[in-house]
Amino acid sequence: MERKRVLSCIQPTGELHIGNYFGAIRNWVNIQDKYDCVYGVVDLHAMTMPYDPRTLPGNTVQMFIDLMACGIDPERSVLFVQSLVPQHAELNWIFSCVTSFGELSRMTQFKDKSDQLQISQKGGFISAGLYTYPVLQAADILIYKANYVPVGKDQEQHLELSRNIAVRFNNQFGTYFPEPEPLFTEVPKLMSLADPTKKMSKSLGDKHYIGVFESEDSLRKKIKSAVTDTGMQSGSKMSPGVENLFTIIKACGTEDPYLRLKDKFDNGTLQYRELKEVAAAVLVETLRPLRERRSELNADRKKTERLVRELSAVAREFAENTLNDVKKLTGLIV
Ligand code: TRP
Repeated sequence: MERKRVLSCIQPTGELHIGNYFGAIRNWVNIQDKYDCVYGVVDLHAMTMPYDPRTLPGNTVQMFIDLMACGIDPERSVLFVQSLVPQHAELNWIFSCVTSFGELSRMTQFKDKSDQLQISQKGGFISAGLYTYPVLQAADILIYKANYVPVGKDQEQHLELSRNIAVRFNNQFGTYFPEPEPLFTEVPKLMSLADPTKKMSKSLGDKHYIGVFESEDSLRKKIKSAVTDTGMQSGSKMSPGVENLFTIIKACGTEDPYLRLKDKFDNGTLQYRELKEVAAAVLVETLRPLRERRSELNADRKKTERLVRELSAVAREFAENTLNDVKKLTGLIV
């Protein structure tokens, strides 16, 4: 039986943090044997918010490398940079002609991001690209005829739009695209270390997150100063900060220390110093091989940049076939 295809993409926003890793990327890595996987670094999407053209290319290549360092294996999965597959942008245009103005106006992420721009830069520039962002996302997904998209809650509405675009296209031009479904997996949700009531995110500031490739020293410092609560509360509910440290330990797959510490918590003998030491230790161990792979890949940057192009060419061939079919179906000359 043919394997179902999975697609997911990430913006080249600089550093990956452990919330991204445990909450998404590690799952991408784990499903590589079960599905036909296609993963992309979407630099065209990164242009929809203010950005620096001098740092974008470096960030794009680095994100590509970082995905490989995390375990995305180009022998088993397709890995591409979006702008090296120009067919995405072409399909974006065709899809924008089967997307209604009204449905784009209902996208909550556009509302959030445009509000954010208006506040941060007083009447700031809001591009049409930010508005049509989800159409390009639909092109990313459908150009590979993906069946499943592993997404978080924040992307559900975009995925629903992709489905609507597929259905509308199929009705208008003949059945061609599968309707992509969300792929939900149980993943840990990491909270900010400095404010554990908020989701871990880089935009909160340096103290709030741990980078996947951060130095051990700085990782230990951040865990050490993570917010917990003021005392041992035996038998009571865990505070968000303590729960977050337990989540980190569990995410690292270390069952024994988790259960041992949980027991101590339950009978009120847990010292947070010990909890933090264990959390830092297991995290360092879990991330070490990733950091090592990353330094190897970064050591020969020229070779790695060649690899980025070679791998993207594989995606391009697939995308080109889809686009040719689409052109024929929609009455364009090929
Ligand atoms: N919008 C997604 C995000 O910000 C990134 C993305 C772009 C994406 N194209 C995609 C995700 C296609 C899944 C599938 O996280």
